[in-house]
Amino acid sequence: MKELLAEVLHNEQIAPGIFAISLKLPEDVRVGCGQFLNLSVGDGGHLLRRPFAIMGYDKGSRVAVCCYQVKGEGTHILSRAKAGDALSCVLPLGNGFSLREEDKRVALVGGGVGVFPLLSVLRAFHESDKHFRSYMGFRSGEYADMFERYDRRSDYYACATDDGSLGAKGNAVQLFFGDFESAKPDVILSCGPTPMLRALKAGLAERGVHVPCYVSLEERMGCGIGACLVCVCKKSGREENVRVCKDGPVFEIGEVEL
Ligand SMILES: Cc1cc2nc3c(=O)[nH]c(=O)nc-3n(C[C@H](O)[C@H](O)[C@H](O)COP(=O)(O)OP(=O)(O)OC[C@H]3O[C@@H](n4cnc5c(N)ncnc54)[C@H](O)[C@@H]3O)c2cc1C
Ligand code: FES
Repeated sequence: MKELLAEVLHNEQIAPGIFAISLKLPEDVRVGCGQFLNLSVGDGGHLLRRPFAIMGYDKGSRVAVCCYQVKGEGTHILSRAKAGDALSCVLPLGNGFSLREEDKRVALVGGGVGVFPLLSVLRAFHESDKHFRSYMGFRSGEYADMFERYDRRSDYYACATDDGSLGAKGNAVQLFFGDFESAKPDVILSCGPTPMLRALKAGLAERGVHVPCYVSLEERMGCGIGACLVCVCKKSGREENVRVCKDGPVFEIGEVEL
């Protein structure tokens, strides 16, 4: 983990309220898929950095790419960052996703900005013997564009939108269970809003599916390095907490309360 001053190369809107930011790092870092960075928003008044999944990292050019949704003040300020600005960032953070040798058939279930950490998995394994089936849910067709624009590397891709303006009307979890018999996944990786992750957990339990399933949580964070406990969530069935920033953000779905 390093604290570096990154140069903004691009910061452009790619869908309503969604921006892609490219950051040139002063030195190379080792980034695993599903890891994140903690980025200063470039304003002295907002000292806390904001966490974003590292969607792509190119070792040769040392450019990291994140996509973010403008939510509150921090991301609003970040959306005004210009090429040439210097932003402090800490990376790589978190455990990230990993795949075992025997995980040949991989299902990716993503919702909203949760698609970004899953894209980093597709990028990391695109020249491997893994077969990916992606099930992505967005509010409307305008948002689905951002997934198609960024990646077409899945062996199978299905998209759902809340309003039915692109793909099926519904959500990613419905798509996934609708295709489960064809997918026959060895492992499921997921990231998205908590209600989506809850529906995934419930669906697996109802169907008695025991395929390993890992979810990346996007809790509100403070320090990002395990010191402040802002990001804690409960371990399932125990009076014990985990820190999403340090112990996660990726957990086995049964391990944490959603
Ligand atoms: C490991 C990790 C990876 C993430 N990756 C991405 C990503 O790739 N792209 C992306 O768009 N977002 C991502 N997020 C969420 C992102 O960090 C927050 O949306 C952002 O910090 C909000 O900052 P803000 O100052 O704009 O909002 P604030 O003013 O702090 O809050 C505005 C609103 O957003 C809510 N909010 C704040 N933090 C979070 C959060 N962590 N998750 C959900 N809601 C939140 C608040 O409750 C409030 O309603 C990630 C979060 C984590 C923990
Ligand atoms: S954000 Fe401080 S402990 Fe996780």
